Amino acid sequence: MDIEPIPWSSSLSVGMNSLDSDHQHLLKLINAVLASFAAAKEVNTRDLTDQFDALLAFWPVHFRREEEILEATSYPELISHKKVHRFMEARLAQFRVTFLNLPPTPGNLATLHSRLEDWVLLHIQGVDKRYQPHLPSSPSPGQSS
Ligand SMILES: [Fe+2]
Ligand SMILES: [Fe+2]
Repeated sequence: MDIEPIPWSSSLSVGMNSLDSDHQHLLKLINAVLASFAAAKEVNTRDLTDQFDALLAFWPVHFRREEEILEATSYPELISHKKVHRFMEARLAQFRVTFLNLPPTPGNLATLHSRLEDWVLLHIQGVDKRYQPHLPSSPSPGQSS
């Protein structure tokens, strides 16, 4: 089955290089899960388990890093942001169980693709972007101010 990887675009930038590279890495891991599901011939393959595990391992690492930065800058919406992160961690663990046990059909692949895409993009664009004006500005590479 063919799958379009979810692309990174500069519109997803939150204005801090370390967090942007985390988000890029998250997209890479999500795309690896999708590619593995697309290539699977049966349920519960070793490779899909590994790709889901890699995503599940990095997901909280990124959330903690983001929370530490927001805590250090006394971000006023930190408590609600943390709640969303905890919810997303629980949901991703559920996705892992659900999709490891679903046959790798085009319909299931499309569902997995749209859930993960909506979810990560809506979080970055809707929730993460809200802290951008609050962060100290980090010059992008090549900028000389
Ligand atoms: Fe976040
Ligand atoms: Fe984030």
